[in-house]
Amino acid sequence: MPAPHPDPTPLAVRTDVTPARHGTVLWHVARQIRRVLPRREYVRYRGHYLPLKGMRSQMCGVEFASEEFFVESGRAEAKRLIASLGLSPASKVVEIGSGLGRLAIGLFQEAGRVEYWGFDANALWIAWCRKHIEPRHPSYRFIHVDVANELYNPTGATLGDRFRFPLADAHADIVYMWGVFTNMRLDDARVYVRETGRLLRHGGRAFLTAFVESNVPAESINPPGYVDYACTLPLHVVRYDQDVLFSMFAEAGLTVEHFGHHAGRQCNQSEIYLRKIGDPHRIPAAQDVITD
Ligand SMILES: C[S@@+](CC[C@H](N)C(=O)[O-])C[C@H]1O[C@@H](n2cnc3c(N)ncnc32)[C@H](O)[C@@H]1O
Repeated sequence: MPAPHPDPTPLAVRTDVTPARHGTVLWHVARQIRRVLPRREYVRYRGHYLPLKGMRSQMCGVEFASEEFFVESGRAEAKRLIASLGLSPASKVVEIGSGLGRLAIGLFQEAGRVEYWGFDANALWIAWCRKHIEPRHPSYRFIHVDVANELYNPTGATLGDRFRFPLADAHADIVYMWGVFTNMRLDDARVYVRETGRLLRHGGRAFLTAFVESNVPAESINPPGYVDYACTLPLHVVRYDQDVLFSMFAEAGLTVEHFGHHAGRQCNQSEIYLRKIGDPHRIPAAQDVITD
């Protein structure tokens, strides 16, 4: 049988196209149009602009692929800032390792226009937040810090002792780091703890999560059998010794107000609440008394 001759009549003027065939043709046309149009970089969910599913799960794990989980977990973190870290409308919040703006998305729902600074080593995620969050919420700003992290930014610069975030001493009321030390070398964490002490105003508070245990080596990278998932990536799990970590806090003038061992909602991390009470080498003055 000879091959059917292709019909040259344009679809619009044809009368012999069955609905099913018509549908298939439209589907192909729509697919071609989608291919040439710029790819959408967000999903809309209950009025929010969210990063795409693939980005979200790459950042924090598969449960964050769910729009509801991403938004609700961000709101829960914002409520933590209000209930446990003293967040008020006048607060200045610094998030180190801001990822894809999960906390920011929760914060502008729960707290409105607070001053928020997000810093992250991943250039693409910062670019996403700048494009999709900053224009709608101008008090929320995101800055890329091109420092190395084997998992998130392997080509960045080594984090040295001279590193400073571009904010003045005592600028912040709250410093927040969720899921950052969990994938960070201890030497880098030391720099960020010191920066947390510098950035916080007297009496300001910090919150962070980390894998912390007693009587373990100062730093263990992907320790076998420690978590119930396979550690297949570099710095997938970084565990610190409690005494080593807590002495870093003390050196930075940070007091541990609460240590929630394995209290984290995700991955069995521990939660640590800190308060800036001043430089341990400085003689306390009258204004050092914390009243709130
Ligand atoms: C597990 S994600 C958590 C993101 C965000 N804190 C949240 O709760 O949704 C860890 C984030 O820390 C960032 N990060 C890792 N090392 C960093 C560094 N040295 N400086 C700044 N950000 C870093 C990663 O790029 C990533 O966005």
